[in-house]
Amino acid sequence: MKKFCSQNCGTSPLSILSIQDLHVYYETGRGTTRAVDGVTFDVPEGHVVGLVGESGCGKTTAARAITRVIPKSASIVSGRIIYDGKDLLQLSNRDMAALRWREIAFIPQSAMNSLDPVYRVGSQIIEILRDRGGFDRQRARRRAVELFEMVGLDDKRLRDYPHQFSGGMRQRAAIAFALALEPRLIIADEPVTALDVIVQRQILDTFKDLQERLGLSVILVTHDISVVAFSCDEVVVMYAGQVAEAGPTAAVLAEPVHPYTMGLYNAFPDLQRSAGTLVPIDGNPPDLTLTQTGCRFADRCPFVLDECEREAPSLIQANEGHTAACWRRGEAAALRRQAEEVTTWQRS
Ligand SMILES: Nc1ncnc2c1ncn2[C@@H]1O[C@H](COP(=O)(O)OP(=O)(O)OP(=O)(O)O)[C@@H](O)[C@H]1O
Ligand SMILES: [Mg+2]
Repeated sequence: MKKFCSQNCGTSPLSILSIQDLHVYYETGRGTTRAVDGVTFDVPEGHVVGLVGESGCGKTTAARAITRVIPKSASIVSGRIIYDGKDLLQLSNRDMAALRWREIAFIPQSAMNSLDPVYRVGSQIIEILRDRGGFDRQRARRRAVELFEMVGLDDKRLRDYPHQFSGGMRQRAAIAFALALEPRLIIADEPVTALDVIVQRQILDTFKDLQERLGLSVILVTHDISVVAFSCDEVVVMYAGQVAEAGPTAAVLAEPVHPYTMGLYNAFPDLQRSAGTLVPIDGNPPDLTLTQTGCRFADRCPFVLDECEREAPSLIQANEGHTAACWRRGEAAALRRQAEEVTTWQRS
């Protein structure tokens, strides 16, 4: 598996974004869903940080909270989101709006399908440049051509309608839209999920190349740990609204400390090889409307102890720059060896 760190991972660059003890809840007919329940992580400037975890663990909710564009039923209950020294949660709506696209661009989970079918793709990108960037028509046209070239699309395709684009081309267009006003931070929510593996690689390569050339900071949201292995400098593993483990990708994937990360690693095929023995993690994440006591992963964890069910472990340092929320973090090496055995994950 190819793992890389594009930046100087031996040093600690300053964070462009610091999320601190963030809580985002939804009010639903069934009660309060604690979708993000105490999430803390940093995005070092110029790095790609992967936010990974299975469906429903709160990735999109956390990512959207950064832009403060969240559904009506959601509220950011507490926490701090420090961007470039400012707490985004304290900004006026107007100041926050001024940051979107220009400083922080968001590529939504369904970006590929969100292009307006009745307008040419070029008209749509020109409209963004004019409305949000104040470009005149001629400059907007030139910038649209430049953006299409940057993401590997032929500028002739600016005249096409979205249905004339393949899925991969639409995803490239979504990246071009996000880059339009030269943001410093891009949040991409599942940018390659609906694509086949070959196109996934092409898009991730393009994305990585742009990120390095433009010095962008990126949060890449994905449920697929092999995408993280391929593209991210740091990884934040989320489980049931919280961070289970976080740190440099190479360290977290080579020596995971949290059993959930060990399980996720076994459960996904590699981007560069065919699916070998994939071992699912049995069971489902907990219902986030219910109050949780103990570790949220306890009832799926093959290494569970009584204390795991009694009290929730905090996210604390396991190794240099590498944190994990597990009572058994001191025994991680032995647990990793057991986690490699398929039988460890099979429930009797
Ligand atoms: N608009 C909403 N109203 C109520 N609950 C919601 C809403 N959106 C998400 N949730 C709930 O919040 C929790 C987290 O959802 P979220 O979409 O953030 O997860 P995710 O990790 O992005 O999942 P996926 O991988 O499927 O995209 C889930 O329990 C989900 O059901
Ligand atoms: Mg999501």
